[in-house]
Amino acid sequence: MEIDTLLDLMRRRRSARRFKPDPIPDEHIQKILEAGRWAMSGANGQPWEFVVVKDRDLIQEVARIRRDCQKHTRVMEESRVKELRHAAYLVPANEMPGFKDAPVVIVICGDPRVYQATVVAAHFYAGDGGPMATFHKSIGNATQFIHLAAAVFGLGAQWISVDSTWEGQLKRLLDIPEMLSVQTIVPIGYPHHKPAPPFRRKLDEMVHYDKYDSAKFRTDEQIQEYIADLRRRSLPAYQA
Ligand SMILES: Cc1cc2nc3c(=O)[nH]c(=O)nc-3n(C[C@H](O)[C@H](O)[C@H](O)COP(=O)(O)O)c2cc1C
Repeated sequence: MEIDTLLDLMRRRRSARRFKPDPIPDEHIQKILEAGRWAMSGANGQPWEFVVVKDRDLIQEVARIRRDCQKHTRVMEESRVKELRHAAYLVPANEMPGFKDAPVVIVICGDPRVYQATVVAAHFYAGDGGPMATFHKSIGNATQFIHLAAAVFGLGAQWISVDSTWEGQLKRLLDIPEMLSVQTIVPIGYPHHKPAPPFRRKLDEMVHYDKYDSAKFRTDEQIQEYIADLRRRSLPAYQA
């Protein structure tokens, strides 16, 4: 494979936040799951399990559970100054896109007992992100591979972070054992429209050779300006 082929795929991969209901061939879904299987994980623990939801009623219910939890998030986000508010919440509630039409939602669960595969020190010391850090990074990698594979088929995917405000409801809905954690859900489908290309910082701004170039270290004010600018640039991605 040529490096430019890989880079092209990586640049073309796009978060979609609204989908056409058109079905995805099962062979595509299998290949996408196979990509998740090959993700890197701490000590090769492979803590993930994938629940592939295709039932329309279940997908609608997952979307409803998430929408309900967003009401609380919206109140919290609206307490921020508008310039720094997450772009998703700059859009009025009734205009937010949603994944209810996606033909497939992959629910990525993790078995936290598997982090014991990592070095024993990780279990005893809570530094460096705590013992669950490796577990979370590993699940993130599987999510990433799934997104990349979906892009090969011209599909859009959304990375939806699940938190404790709705994880329990999801687990009950999908019969997921209490022991497992649900970290991300990934709706996949043909995008409703071509998502706006997102902003990326320039390579030169983030790369340092041999030693960190302190001229590139950003002040607090620059970071605040950066986040405000990011919000403005991100807005189109969250508009339906
Ligand atoms: C850890 C993580 C959490 C994310 N959580 C969400 C989320 O909850 N909802 C969402 O729509 N996108 C989420 N995203 C996707 C990012 O918003 C997206 O990758 C970013 O805006 C860049 O756009 P792109 O994916 O099209 O390049 C998440 C991505 C990561 C890596």
